Order: sequence, then structure tokens, then C-alpha cells
Amino acid sequence: MTTDNGLPAGFLFGGDYSPEQWLSRPDILERDVAMMRDAHVNAVTLGVFSWAALEPREGDFQFGWLERIVDKLYGSGICTVLATPSGARPRWLAEKHPEVLRVRADRTRNLFGERHNHCYTSPVYREKVRLINGELARRFAGHPAVLMWHISNEYGGECHCPLCQDAFRSWLKAEYGSIGRLNEAWWTAFWSHTYGDFGQVESPSPRGDLHVHGLNLDWKRFVTAQTADFLRSEIRALRDAGARQPTVINLMEDYTGLNYAELAACVDLVSWDSYPRWHRGSDVTTAQRTGLQHDLMRTLRHQPFLLMESCLASPNWHEVSKIKRPGMLSGASLQAVAHGSDSVQFFQIRQGRGGSEKFHGALIDHYGGEDTRVFREAAEVGSILERLGEIAHAEVVSPAAVLWDMESRWAMEDAQGPRNDGLHYHETILKTHSGLRRSGLNVDVLDASGSLEGYEVVFVPMLYMFRHGLAGRLRRFTERGGTLVVTYWSGVAGETDLCFLGPAPHGLTDVLGLRREEIDALYDGEANLLEPAPGAGGLAGGRCYRCTHLAELVRLDGAVPILVYGRDFYRGRPALTVHPFGRGQAYYVCADAEADLYRDLAARIMRERGLRPILDDIADGLEVSSRTDGRTEYVFVQNYAERQIVPNLPANARYLLGGSGPLDPYGTVVFERPLD
Ligand code: GAL
Ligand code: ZN
Repeated sequence: MTTDNGLPAGFLFGGDYSPEQWLSRPDILERDVAMMRDAHVNAVTLGVFSWAALEPREGDFQFGWLERIVDKLYGSGICTVLATPSGARPRWLAEKHPEVLRVRADRTRNLFGERHNHCYTSPVYREKVRLINGELARRFAGHPAVLMWHISNEYGGECHCPLCQDAFRSWLKAEYGSIGRLNEAWWTAFWSHTYGDFGQVESPSPRGDLHVHGLNLDWKRFVTAQTADFLRSEIRALRDAGARQPTVINLMEDYTGLNYAELAACVDLVSWDSYPRWHRGSDVTTAQRTGLQHDLMRTLRHQPFLLMESCLASPNWHEVSKIKRPGMLSGASLQAVAHGSDSVQFFQIRQGRGGSEKFHGALIDHYGGEDTRVFREAAEVGSILERLGEIAHAEVVSPAAVLWDMESRWAMEDAQGPRNDGLHYHETILKTHSGLRRSGLNVDVLDASGSLEGYEVVFVPMLYMFRHGLAGRLRRFTERGGTLVVTYWSGVAGETDLCFLGPAPHGLTDVLGLRREEIDALYDGEANLLEPAPGAGGLAGGRCYRCTHLAELVRLDGAVPILVYGRDFYRGRPALTVHPFGRGQAYYVCADAEADLYRDLAARIMRERGLRPILDDIADGLEVSSRTDGRTEYVFVQNYAERQIVPNLPANARYLLGGSGPLDPYGTVVFERPLD
């Protein structure tokens, strides 16, 4: 059975496999396939770093080994996710055409080496990638085993070579039209940086400019645009050669080098590589952090995503390679599924004997047998996924969204002030996101350009940059009945990072019923207290909350304080406010409050709006999510605490996994209920 886009009906289970490292050991390749089958593997990713084996000499394409393994796997019921090999180039290519190698910000060119070391502009690199992608497509376009095209690997990095400088200048010319407009947008009168023409522009460099914020911002935008253009050219090569299978890219956790929203628009599917540091500190926090990333990946295309890579035991590149405790592999794998993944894939199926990843966790380790804890636990995950197969391709419907915007982050974190010792943006996003999740809602994680249509609650944490039209969209969302939550340090600058003149947060002061007057920064270790405002009941039974790092002082114009500061010269001044606007409400959080504030605020908003949680009475340490196919809702409940928890589960639901009793640490329960 397959779906509309040709993917198998159930979940994909498997991972990255590198037969090119084992071509002299057919016995091992033979045994691997049998072991994969025993582990319920149904899909492997091939060819990610195989260029040197696929084209050992220029123009000499050797695809026989790949075809043989694809066929062999398919004969055992295992499909292929086939990669284009552009993530690492063969030595002959760099030797003949040094222009394919990257130039660093200090303008020195890299030697051949490592991977992901290529210029995205170089016409030679693009042409060589076009040729090999075309050859692969011609060979595998019609192959029933090949499910999708995995384009390159973890796009990232930047190149400052002369070709990239020229492309950057052309990009700027198209953006600004005249050098006068660029000077204005970048505020170049500061420190006498005025440009006379586009030819004088150089990418940011430690040997030149690092503090022209507009330049830094546009350079990052250009790097994204150039990478997206390269990605599109890779896909075009496949399509021109007749490939019709869907395309996928694998993204990284909290990677700030690219604006993933733009890359996601170029492909059919988004996937990501998840390597959380489980068992370092609280697993509850690690689960929240990972859940945020799953939600972001799903929202990038508003559709189920794939978990392309994850680790079976421990990634060898962590500072400390702590192995997963029994049960964690299943917990981590099913968390991805709960948040909307249609696959659980691992890096890697088999450990190599050499190379920097020889100690990275794998399904088949150097010992080489099935009688290992990791193999048993992996096979167990594979069989659970088979049992849960009907859930694959079900959507995640979220009434709440958090805006997490890369362009705004670039500008905000590049600025000097208000806290060069850390603005804690990621943590703030995490606190708002987990506040909503802990209250029992599915949450989408949107780029600031994303549509707000259909959401009941939108959180806007530290959205420093308001791009054109955003304030108007937030205003209309509230006017029409939505609940808007904005925090400190929002609406500060426009899209070229020029500060707005006039009252702030820009364009929203009448919606929020206040304006920002000052922002105070606290040293590490300092804290203030947020207390119930006199005469108001506070948030949750009158409790107080700590705040750290940043604290804004606002002047009210209609908003009502719910919490006020407890200390310092601004004791008694508003710290959390609410203001009705149109048919909706607008909350303003003035300070970097502890996580519980966001949970209690989410609970209050849900009461006000009559929003039902996925599950009532969610104990701390539990994670609750749901997916739906339009008729049935599948509810996932997971325990990330170190103790058993008895969740408040329905007694007579249909349980697809586990049951209504106590839930062990890392345990998962899945039940279904009809959608009302
Ligand atoms: C990923 C990468 C894989 C492998 C893995 C190891 O970032 O895509 O090729 O290196 O890390 O954890
Ligand atoms: Zn370059």
C-alpha cells in the first residue's frame, strides 16, 4: 500500500547505511541485510557521502555496486532513500578545480578535506553536481525501491570567495536598486562607512567589517538564498533527468546559519537529525527541547516530517558519550512520531572500522551480532512502529502557535545591548512553547511570515524585528478574537535592522494598551520577583515568579496589570498585563520570567477561551501530544520523569500501545478516540 505521493502507508524505519565502506566484504553486506530484516528495517538511506565510489575518476560513473545493494535490499523488503552526493566531493574534483573549495571569512581558501567544504556559487561545482545527479536520476528514477531523493546532507556553512562576493553584490543590487538606498538601509553614515557603489561591498570579515548590522543581516539572507538556489539546482538536475520521487532535505537542531523556512519551501518533505543529550541533567527538559524542534520541523511545511537521523546508543561527537538508558530509544523514537514524524531513522546502520564516526552508535556494531541490547531495543521499536502503522501520515492539529523567527534572531543577537552576556532567546522560545505544551495543547512553531489563520492563541516571544506587515497581521489576529501574547524586546527594529521611531512595540501599542519605556538588564545570578498586582488575583492562586536577565518598564495606556515587580526601584510597576482589543485579548510579559509563568498563563488563556487540553491533569514530567487523520485522534502520553507516573487516562479507550496503568520512565502509551 502506498500514499498519494508514493510513500509506503506505514512508518519508515531504518537509517543511513554506507556499503561503499565495505565493498571488499560481500559477506558482511550479505549478513547486514539479514540483520536489518530481523530488526524490522524497511528503509535505508544510501549514497550520502559516496561520490568517490560513484565517480572515482572524472566522468567514469560506477553505479553497479549501488544498484546491486539497492536491489538486494529491495528483495528483502527494504526500500531506499537515495542521496545526491554533493555533501562531500572527490579529491580529483578539488585538485582540478580549486574554485570548488570554500574560502573563509578571513579570505583564505580551504585545502581539500572534511565534508561540506564547497562553494555554493562555483559554476564548476554546480555543473559537476548536475552531471552526477542526472546520472543517478536516469538510473534510479523508475526504480520501485527508491522512495525519495535525499538532497545533499545538512546544508550549511558559507563561502567568501570572489565568485560569492560577486553574487552577493548582484543580490544586493536586485534588493536595493541603488547604492543610496543601501546606504540608508545599513545606516552607513555611522563611522564613515558610506559606499560609493556596489563594487565596494565585501562580505563581513574579521579583517574588515563585522559591525555593520545591515551588512551582516543581508549577508546571512544571501547565504540562505544562495544555498536555496543550489538546492533548487540539485533538484532541477534530478527532474530534468526524469526523476519524479519526492525530495527531502535533512536539517539540524537549532542551526542558525540558514533560514530553514526558505529551504523547506524548495522540497517536498522536511526531515531532521536529532541528537539530544539524554541523561544530562533533567530528561524532562531535554524532551521539551527536542519536542520544540520536532514541532518546528513539522510546521516548516505544515505536514508530517521525517526523523532522518537519530542515535541508537550515543553520538560519539558529544562531549561525553553517554549511552541511552534502557527504554530511552523507544521513548525518543516515539516522541518524534507523537509530534508528527512519519519515520524513525538512525545514523547509522553499521559502524565503520575507521573514520571519525567509528564509535558512533549503530544498529550493527563492531561485534556484529544481534544479541546486543541496542539491537534488541531497536528491533522492538521497529515492531512497535509496525503496530502503530495506521497513524503514519496523520496530521498534528495545533490551536496554538509560537513565532520563532530566524531573521529576527540574526538581527537581535548581532546587536550590542541590551545584554551582551546572553539574551537567552532559545530558552525563552522553549519556555513559551513548553508552557503551552505542559498545559495540554499541540503547538506549531512558525516563522514570522507564517499565516496566523486558524490559531486561537499566538505567542510572540522576543520578536525584535517586525518585518513589513507583521504588526498589522498581529493586530487583525487579535481584533478578530485571537489571544495574543507578546513579550519584552519585541517590535524594536524593521527588516533592515533600523530601529523604529515612535512608541514601541512598534505598531502594537494600542493593541497591548501600553508602551515600552526602558529595558533593564540583570547580571547573571541576579533576579527580581513578579508578584500579584494589588487588587488582582495574579495568575495561579496568587503565586510569585522569578525573573532574570531582562526586565522592561512599561507605561500603561489601558492595559491592566496582573503581576507587578516585587523589587528594585521599579517595585510595583507592571510585569504582566492584559488588554482587550477588538474581539480578542492581548497579554504582555515584561520580563524574562521562569517557565511556570508561561504554563500558568497558557492555562488561564485556555480557561478564558474554553480550550480543552488533550488530556486533563497532566503531571509534571509527562508529555502529551496527538495526531489525527480527520476521523480519529491518536493520543500519545510519554513519561520523561525518573519515577513512575499514573497518568489520568481513560479506562475504556482503544489502546494501541500500553494501557491505562502506571507509566514507567521513558514509557509511552498510545490510545485513540473518535474526533468530536
Ligand atoms: C549528522 C550527519 C551524519 C553523521 C551524524 C553523526 O549531523 O548528517 O552524516 O555525521 O551527524 O551524528
Ligand atoms: Zn564561493
